[in-house]
Amino acid sequence: MQACTLEARAKINLYLQILGRRQDGYHDLTMILQSINLADQVHLQLTDGGIHVECDHPQVPTDSSNLAYRAAELLQKTYHCPGGVEIQIRKRIPVAAGLAGGSTNAAAVLVGLNQLWGLGLTVGDLQVLASQLGSDIPFCISGGTQLASGRGEILEPLSDLQDIPLVLAKPKQLEVSTAWAYRTYSASIPPSKLTSPPNTSLIQPMLTAIEQQSAPEIARYLYNDLELPVLSHHTVVANLKQTLDQGGALGSLMSGSGPSVFGITTSIAAAETIATQLRHQDPSLETWAISTAPTGISLQL
Ligand code: C5P
Repeated sequence: MQACTLEARAKINLYLQILGRRQDGYHDLTMILQSINLADQVHLQLTDGGIHVECDHPQVPTDSSNLAYRAAELLQKTYHCPGGVEIQIRKRIPVAAGLAGGSTNAAAVLVGLNQLWGLGLTVGDLQVLASQLGSDIPFCISGGTQLASGRGEILEPLSDLQDIPLVLAKPKQLEVSTAWAYRTYSASIPPSKLTSPPNTSLIQPMLTAIEQQSAPEIARYLYNDLELPVLSHHTVVANLKQTLDQGGALGSLMSGSGPSVFGITTSIAAAETIATQLRHQDPSLETWAISTAPTGISLQL
């Protein structure tokens, strides 16, 4: 096989609790990560030499700062793979939105090149490599519904949430830096709180809700510590969350470091109605009616 095309799905956080600051500058977390049916398409074509990236989105870098480029380079160097690869990315996931758009592209490159270069690496092997590139990439490789700890790279699968309908919205012009969100959170919290044992009473009801596949209960226990810095600095995101709650969502949450916000709805029709209403009220929003997905990366046949 000389070429393949992969669907690279975005993620949302159903739960993100910051437990403490680490020596390496990262934060220890407890998260529940969920793949969604909003995907970029990543086409890989083997070539004689070099790594080249092309993308139809003008804001996505095509040089070695692109995570997809770095994923190919890491595999090539680690396993001494001869030849190069042309990586074409069709962007559908908004950039710097808290949806792991760049991370899922890198995950697709790892999965695809493992096939094309015949490396025979397991999902676990790929996730170890992925964790060197970014905290969300190990999750993106397998996807579905997972409990994450450490800086996000230690994963434990949960029962897959089947087709939970969602409305997703993002202010078009706003991007939030993940590093800024974590830094601002840490600076606003007393050091004692950042080193105290995790409050497991917060996550337990969410784990039960997921086990029961209960959308209303999941909506009730949505939680994200990064809402604190982002909502207070960007009122547009706070207002968006309020509009979703008042507009019929069962519950809403900012995903990751934002600024994307999602609402859990009673049906995909309800998600479509809310998405249309939001766009009419505020044309500066991008909106989607989507659902949860059981996988992160899949090969298109
Ligand atoms: O791992 P990734 O490159 O996606 O992280 C981006 C930034 O987010 C890091 O440089 C760090 O500032 C912050 N971060 C963190 N703790 C985590 C994950 C990310 O502080 N667990």
